[in-house]
Amino acid sequence: MRMSTAPSSPNSLRPQPWRPHPGPQEFFLNLWQVCFEALFGGAKGPGKTDAIVMEATRQLDHPRYRGVIFRRTYPQLQEIMDRCHRWYSSLGGMFNSQERRWRFPSGATIFLAHCQHEDDKYNYQGHEYQFMGFDQLEQFTESQYLFLISQVRTIDPSIRCYVRATANPGGVGHAWVKRRFIEGKRPNQIYKESFTLPNGQILVLTRCFVPATIHDNPTLVKSDPRYLAWLQSLPEKERKAFLEGNWDVMEGQFFDIWNSSIHVIPTVRPPEGFQKFISLDYGYSKPASAGWWYTDYDGRMVRYREVYSERLIYSELAELILSVTDRNEQIAYCVADPSIWDDRQHHWGTIHGESGAETMQKIFGQRIRLIRGDNRRIIGWNRMRERLKPFQGQGGMWTANLLVMDSCRDFIRTLPGLIHDEHNPEDLDTSGEDHAADETRYAVMSRPQATPAPTAKSPEERETQEFWDAVRKDLSQLQHPPQDEETWEEINA
Ligand SMILES: Nc1ncnc2c1ncn2[C@@H]1O[C@H](COP(=O)(O)OP(=O)(O)OP(=O)(O)O)[C@@H](O)[C@H]1O
Ligand SMILES: [Mg+2]
Repeated sequence: MRMSTAPSSPNSLRPQPWRPHPGPQEFFLNLWQVCFEALFGGAKGPGKTDAIVMEATRQLDHPRYRGVIFRRTYPQLQEIMDRCHRWYSSLGGMFNSQERRWRFPSGATIFLAHCQHEDDKYNYQGHEYQFMGFDQLEQFTESQYLFLISQVRTIDPSIRCYVRATANPGGVGHAWVKRRFIEGKRPNQIYKESFTLPNGQILVLTRCFVPATIHDNPTLVKSDPRYLAWLQSLPEKERKAFLEGNWDVMEGQFFDIWNSSIHVIPTVRPPEGFQKFISLDYGYSKPASAGWWYTDYDGRMVRYREVYSERLIYSELAELILSVTDRNEQIAYCVADPSIWDDRQHHWGTIHGESGAETMQKIFGQRIRLIRGDNRRIIGWNRMRERLKPFQGQGGMWTANLLVMDSCRDFIRTLPGLIHDEHNPEDLDTSGEDHAADETRYAVMSRPQATPAPTAKSPEERETQEFWDAVRKDLSQLQHPPQDEETWEEINA
């Protein structure tokens, strides 16, 4: 696409004398009439935040225009608020700090908003925005983003609807942002893609990624050469990500062992005869995730079905689980998030005082037995990793002790995107979409540990083993344990 000059009145960017820098920033700002979704940046410092703050002002002449700019948390929003004060007041904007809303002389409004927790997205349900901007989109989850952009609409066709975002590599959203905007796509090209809204409606949307680096921002390079020097002095991985905008180096993947060509298998009917069970992580304003598993003769777990859904109360979720379970399927148990034994909030008004687990068990009846999941997180993650560890099976084919059928799309979409918790690297960052992972952890913890690949014993080890096996056998034949407890413990040590 040809780069053009700054857009002209009445939809010109203001305030004057702010002008986009020629190059990527100007290109990004000129996409507004031709592209619904656009992502700007990759690297640090090209003027991403300025671009979003300014883009939001484009349609201020329309009294019915409503724009909104998001950051994930409130403290992060402060930077945007400061920036807006600098520019929006010179456009006659008045700030209502309680509602974090700018109102302009025409009646147009721009909101500054945050969406820290998964369910905060519902605070914006039913609101109508024509412009939605996300600064640092890599800090949001995909489900937050998809829900929020479904609120972008207008009843006035003279106001254009579109979404703009900025991002750096890294963060809980790294994987999905990369997949949505970058992977397999050429920069500065507009792509059409069909998109399913949470209500099931399908839309065809246009999408574009505009990469840029600090070298595209002469203001910053000139006014603060130390910032460029700091970027150049970063360790290699960070330098590649933040100076060059390289999206391949900052994965920080929690399950770096994940390999879809090994772990994902074609969907087939689950075989008869193997034990089957369900795992469940409950959520109402965040997705509830349920997985159906069978274990084969080798103890390998295979996920063959899933449900991933929001806004279902316990009874509805239990009914949904029953309805997708085949009539003749024998389900040994459903292992669930232990907190549902304490959660009484989503069904008050129906059966007062009953826990979520009790409600579900009543609906499951004799068909499925609900059991508490073991919620020891670190042990659970380690056991999951152990199961995911690839090994060569029959005929030298690579496989693992945990496999997933390709119809389990939400598991396959969310698991590889989870990242380490910055403060506790043994755990994952819970601000990501971790519901399928949590429920899989309960599933894994409900099974005996995966059998490690057999390792050969040395002759000495074998002899010692045989000796102690013989001692244990003799002891087991004794009618009574020895009187002296110490001796008993020593022998059994
Ligand atoms: N077109 C412009 N004209 C004048 N100044 C600009 C322009 N674009 C950006 N700047 C200034 O350059 C500086 C860096 O821009 P900005 O903060 O928007 O970059 P960024 O890409 O968001 O950086 P980061 O990656 O650190 O978030 C800011 O002081 C901003 O006001
Ligand atoms: Mg910024």
